[in-house]
Amino acid sequence: MKLLLNTDDLWTAIDGYFEDCLVSRDEALEAALTASAKAGLPQINVAPNQGKLLMLLARAIGARRILEIGTLGGYSTIWLGRGLPPDGKLITLEAKPQHAEVARGNIARAGLDAIVEVRVGRAQGMLPSLADEGPFDLIFIDADKFGTPGYFQWAVKLSRPGSLIIVDNVVREGALLDAGGGDPDVQGMRRFFDLAGADKRVSGTALQTVGAKGHDGFAILLVTSEPGPEPSA
Ligand code: SAH
Ligand code: DHB
Ligand code: MG
Repeated sequence: MKLLLNTDDLWTAIDGYFEDCLVSRDEALEAALTASAKAGLPQINVAPNQGKLLMLLARAIGARRILEIGTLGGYSTIWLGRGLPPDGKLITLEAKPQHAEVARGNIARAGLDAIVEVRVGRAQGMLPSLADEGPFDLIFIDADKFGTPGYFQWAVKLSRPGSLIIVDNVVREGALLDAGGGDPDVQGMRRFFDLAGADKRVSGTALQTVGAKGHDGFAILLVTSEPGPEPSA
């Protein structure tokens, strides 16, 4: 294989192998991707093996309430929704009305409209009003990368000890290490890592990923003690 494929193609082929073996084909998920592409949404949803990881993590912690920041066409939303019991609840925040509309169709087709609520608006403005609806057992942060530090701080506030906070796109082809560059997305991600590393209320790690989505990564943080005032990092 090494002789036939460059590394990117090899990694993508291995994602395909994992999917063939472990992630069964699913009409609702495939229809969600088709409808999203047809509506012109960017194809930046989590990969199938990543979506399944989200579902498994939700199930592993017995999640009943999930918050997602950044819905797009609802692909990751459907995976997360499938990690919930029938009386669970998932709130997902999306800035663009058109994305939200496509997502609602996809979520209904997947039979999850009773437990999933898509809210339209900028997450920064909506997060403060979620305090009454928490705490959330799992929070998936996957919206604009510049906003990630602020979303992380809200995620901790909206959590309980034992909640998981998962952040997508923490590596971005290695751009993460470009400390002095002017890319606001990278600065956002670095600020997130500074905050997370200094925050005694969470214990986290991060993993690089390769394959269908290029070289990127996830951060996974466990909330370990009662949310209180933020540290001054
Ligand atoms: N979680 C999705 C992908 C999300 S892509 C999946 O894996 O299937 C990022 C989404 O965040 C886009 O739809 C974008 O419109 C939305 N977004 C960007 N900035 C936002 C903000 N400030 N508040 C809420 N959503 C935002
Ligand atoms: C982008 C955003 C994402 O959430 C992602 O998983 C990949 C790419 C982007 O904005 O380019
Ligand atoms: Mg993402």
